[in-house]
Amino acid sequence: MSQADKKAAAEAAMELIKPGMKVGLGTGSTANELIDLLGPAVADGLDILCVATSKASDERARALGIPMRTLDELPRLDLTIDGADEIGPGLSLIKGGGGAHLREKIVACASSEMVVIADTSKCVEVLGAFPLPLEVVPFGFAATVNAVEQAIDKAGLSGTLTKRQKDGTDFVTDSGNLIIDATLGTIDDPERLAASLADVPGLVEHGLFLGIAKKAFVAGEGGVEVLTP
Ligand code: 5RP
Repeated sequence: MSQADKKAAAEAAMELIKPGMKVGLGTGSTANELIDLLGPAVADGLDILCVATSKASDERARALGIPMRTLDELPRLDLTIDGADEIGPGLSLIKGGGGAHLREKIVACASSEMVVIADTSKCVEVLGAFPLPLEVVPFGFAATVNAVEQAIDKAGLSGTLTKRQKDGTDFVTDSGNLIIDATLGTIDDPERLAASLADVPGLVEHGLFLGIAKKAFVAGEGGVEVLTP
């Protein structure tokens, strides 16, 4: 994993951004590379409007002079470019390592196309080595944990659930929720797990992105590879 590879993937994805586009900006160290490339491009006259998937990305983009809008102002986007924690078969993804997957999924699904940028370390044969982030409302947290355990069991899986912490306290998302990281080992049937988790009240969104990404630029020693489902 290298920052240079992340930058190379972001540079490749830059080619997709055309004047007049409305672009969703992802969250994380790879998405930051894209934002850092867009700043000078906008200063050079690239005419785009952007919507961020997190407060951090919004602040970074604004600081670089990128014209930012809310998703309410631009409810339909042309393209979203975002990182991922794992890229599995058919461009199935695990996202949410940065705790932004709720907004990332809303923005990606409001876009005509979602494109992933990553280095090769993110590519896996089976999803699940990376703990699956689950965004849950604070109310009734213990009850939601129980329901999540049952949903995971119903999907034929088992594992451990950990409430995410940051700086010695609960991690709180941009939407004021908590994160449970579900360490499941391997997720052979992500659709089955996603369907089971969808029934849990209090679970706002899980980090499985299935059938959402249409292209991935993955950078490694051999250059940038373009993956499609
Ligand atoms: C944030 C995300 C990120 O896209 C994911 O964590 C990848 O981050 P990075 O590019 O820093 O590895 O899903 O919620």
